[in-house]
Amino acid sequence: MQKKTFTLIDNRTGKEVEYPIIEGTRGPAAVDFRNLFKDTGTFSYDPGYTSTASCNSTITFIDGAKGELRYRGIPIEILAKEHSYLETCFLLLNEHLPSISELHNFDLELRHRAFLHEGLRNLFNAFPDNAHPMATLSASVTALASFYQEHLDMNNETEYHEMAHRIIAKMPTLAAFAYRHSLGIPFIQPDIDLSFTKNFLTMMRAYPGGKMHLGPLGHEEIKEIEVRALDTIFTLHADHEQNASTTVVRNVASTGAHPYVAISSGIAALWGRAHGGANESVIAQLEMIGSVENVDAFIARAKDPNDDFRLMGFGHRVYKNFDPRAQVLKKLQDELKETLGLDSRLLDIAGRIEEIALNDEYFVSRHLYPNIDFYTGIILTALKIPKNMFTPVFVIGRTVGWITQWIEFKKDPSSKIARPRQLYLGD
Ligand code: ACO
Repeated sequence: MQKKTFTLIDNRTGKEVEYPIIEGTRGPAAVDFRNLFKDTGTFSYDPGYTSTASCNSTITFIDGAKGELRYRGIPIEILAKEHSYLETCFLLLNEHLPSISELHNFDLELRHRAFLHEGLRNLFNAFPDNAHPMATLSASVTALASFYQEHLDMNNETEYHEMAHRIIAKMPTLAAFAYRHSLGIPFIQPDIDLSFTKNFLTMMRAYPGGKMHLGPLGHEEIKEIEVRALDTIFTLHADHEQNASTTVVRNVASTGAHPYVAISSGIAALWGRAHGGANESVIAQLEMIGSVENVDAFIARAKDPNDDFRLMGFGHRVYKNFDPRAQVLKKLQDELKETLGLDSRLLDIAGRIEEIALNDEYFVSRHLYPNIDFYTGIILTALKIPKNMFTPVFVIGRTVGWITQWIEFKKDPSSKIARPRQLYLGD
């Protein structure tokens, strides 16, 4: 029988050491190097964790070569087409899709938990009017920790699920409050009669009293197609295995900090342009390019090794063929083009970039394909969500993923404090 081990030879001494290979249920196996330092006195060196599995998990699976993404074994294309975001949340937390009554109860509970403690409102006033909503959102989630002093019993599912449901339910309210504060307009309270996604759109657009009059914020009633489009975007963002922000959430969890502080740290990590912040940068870049005629010049800049300009919404650490989330969104974008009146100037520029990049040797040889962020911006713009709220929308969708990963980390008996070592090159 084939031996499931991995032998390393230290050529300085000729010493051989053998390490177990752990098979996954899908995807590559991992070599268990946990004893490497003890056995050899050397560390593995892997900045950016390009070859390191930091944990084991049963939540999300990605096959980057095949462009495959599954939550709890179910392909993302099926979830996006046949299930709602709340069903997806339930699936991630409970490892199975909900029955009708389970979904009803889950939905009802989230509606009840969407309200914020009145004391939290004052926090928003401390921020300048022009504060980026991501700054306000991250701070308000940290503040939320002070309202719920959690010492959770991880053997008590009801207790830790309550903690998870609360943060999922409140995130749209916090995000909408952050946005409305940035405009200096009155907050809109959640409406218990509205679904998760419609509620968020309402809290973004409505006038006090929940009305949708003609005006600068809301031109008409929220359409069902808008709700479905945003719900799909939330589903596509719900989890993505050990990405940068999730790794941050797990690392903060490893120190024993409050779960909402871990989520707040995840929000901070997501904000960066190399990660979730890319969705805001994509539209800014399309606007900067301005017209189809200018695309070639920007592509040339992206390819120039002496220019640090990057095409936002292109490339991914894991997907080296295509991003399946981007494919779902591309279809959605085509579907919404007429019904929602997507911005045709931006669509033309984006289409030209896509066309060149998918055929250009520079992008093809580096496996640089459009990622999810390339498509979200144009759709979100049509939903009247402003640029600075694109990354908060990502946060709302990803909160369930972060908290599910937090729970998995806390329940895993092999979890340890995250404490990497270094290769010292100083004096
Ligand atoms: N435009 C132009 N060139 C690029 C791009 C891009 N968007 N992305 C990568 N490259 C080039 C790099 O210059 C490098 O070229 P080289 O080998 O000649 O030096 C090569 O492709 C590999 O790039 P890395 O930065 O090493 O790849 P890595 O896996 O570390 O980074 C990342 C992935 C951060 C997503 C990167 O592709 C990028 O910055 N993209 C733009 C930002 C973006 O869209 N982020 C969203 C990611 S999805 C998400 O987080 C939700």
